[in-house]
Formats: sequence, C-alpha cells, structure tokens
Amino acid sequence: MQGTDVQSAGGQPSSNGSTPHTRRAPAELLRVEGVSKEFKVGGGVVTALRSVNLQLREGEFIAIRGRSGAGKTTLLNIIAGLDDPTHGRIVLFGRDLANVKEGERTAIRRNEMGFMFQAAHLIPTLTARENVGLLLRLSNTSAAEREQRASEALALVGLGERQQHRAPELSGGEQQRVAIARALVHAPRLVLADEPTGNLDTHTGLAILDLLRNVAHNAGIGFIITTHDPQASAIADAVYDISDGVLSPGQK
Ligand SMILES: Nc1ncnc2c1ncn2[C@@H]1O[C@H](COP(=O)(O)OP(=O)(O)OP(=O)(O)O)[C@@H](O)[C@H]1O
Ligand SMILES: [Mg+2]
Repeated sequence: MQGTDVQSAGGQPSSNGSTPHTRRAPAELLRVEGVSKEFKVGGGVVTALRSVNLQLREGEFIAIRGRSGAGKTTLLNIIAGLDDPTHGRIVLFGRDLANVKEGERTAIRRNEMGFMFQAAHLIPTLTARENVGLLLRLSNTSAAEREQRASEALALVGLGERQQHRAPELSGGEQQRVAIARALVHAPRLVLADEPTGNLDTHTGLAILDLLRNVAHNAGIGFIITTHDPQASAIADAVYDISDGVLSPGQK
C-alpha cells in the first residue's frame, strides 16, 4: 500500500520528506530596520520614532496600539514612502525605499498598496460602487471592468446589496466597509489602515477588524492597522505597542 496511511499518522513528518504539496513560506512584504524619525520644529527637535524594527509577511494582520502622539501615523507615512526616516531603512516588497524615487513610490502606492483612514472619505454624490471604482480610473481600467471589480469588492465586504447607495444613505459601519472595498479593489499586497475603527462603536469596530483579518488571511494581503482600541489585540495575528516612538511587542 502506498499513499496516506491513517494508522501511521501520528504527527511525525515522514522520513523521506516528500509531501504532496510543497508549501511556500509566506513572502516578506515589509521590513522596518532601526527606523528613527526626528522633526525639526522651530529651534527644537521632536523625536517621533526611536529605532523601530518590524517585519510583515503575506497574509499577516498586525495591530499597533498607542496613544495620541505616540508615533503611529508617522510610522505608517514612512512605510508608505510619504516621508523618509532620519535613521534606518524601509525594505518594501524587497526594495530599499531609499533607492526608490518619488514617481516610482507613487506607482507602488497606487498599484500595490491600499489605504484606510479613520473617516471613510467617500464622495457623497457618488454611489458606493462608483466610490470603490474611482481609483481604477487612474490605471485606465475600462468602465465595464471598473464596475465589475467594484461590485466584487463590495460583495467581499458584504455590501452587495448597497452598491447604488450614496454615502449619506449608508451607516457609518457600511461607509467604512465601502472604504475597505476601495482599499482592496486593485488587489494590493499591503494595506495600511490608520485607526480604521476610530469613528465606530466597539461592536461595529470589532466586526470591521474581523472582516479585515479574514481578508488578510484569505487573500494573502498584509495588513497593518493602528488603533486606540485595546480589543483589537484579540483579533490581530500580532500586536505591538508604541509609546513615545518606541515600538515593542505587545501582550495579546
Ligand atoms: N510633520 C511634523 N512635524 C513636527 N512634528 C510632527 C510632525 N508629525 C508628527 N509630529 C510629532 O510626532 C509625534 C508623533 O505624531 P503622530 O502623528 O505619528 O502620532 P499618532 O500616534 O499618529 O497620534 P494620533 O493617535 O493622535 O493620530 C507627535 O509628538 C507629533 O506632534
Ligand atoms: Mg495618527
């Protein structure tokens, strides 16, 4: 007899090492190495980040908790290449951002990254589907394909029935789900979400985090969210605390 032998399945890997599927380790999406950030203000210096190290792989959903002013947005801006570290480096999709010029950074953000913020920032006169499809105009996607992909993204966040609603005709949680669909519609590899549940009640906020985590796991997308919400830790794969610019592994 060959093949799977139920009797011998005792949790030990087979000695010949052969497996029917070779599982590829999730690829690294991001490495933050010794990143510090100082802002010069007036005659003084504000240190917003201090020797931050962080790594993120495909399909990983991590939360960064910290109080107002701790450095969360500064870190996300630097990861997105919107600002440069004072010391240290960012390796994004295998490339040292120090060697990536502005135009190319814009292209990386547009094509490979998704963004979410505390407010959904929907255009009130457009329908949910039009809001989601808007960014695809930048990549010259045809109207038919924009509609199709926006519909799929809305279905993914459970809003298949709300496609024709305009922003004021949606609840706060629904608006934020439209913002998720918008962040995902171009199939990014990494999503940065700066307090995506900040405007929502606890129950709705947790439902949104749960949805984001499932998307991360199912689609293999990396997610970094920042939050004030202590409960986010229950949902994230890993949690970090940031305090006065110092990032450290947090308790789940
Ligand atoms: N462009 C800037 N120039 C000078 N100081 C800045 C700048 N951006 C941020 N800071 C300072 O850096 C620190 C971190 O700010 P940051 O916006 O990253 O905090 P945060 O954790 O996102 O806070 P919040 O939860 O309120 O959004 C703060 O002390 C802030 O005043
Ligand atoms: Mg912030």
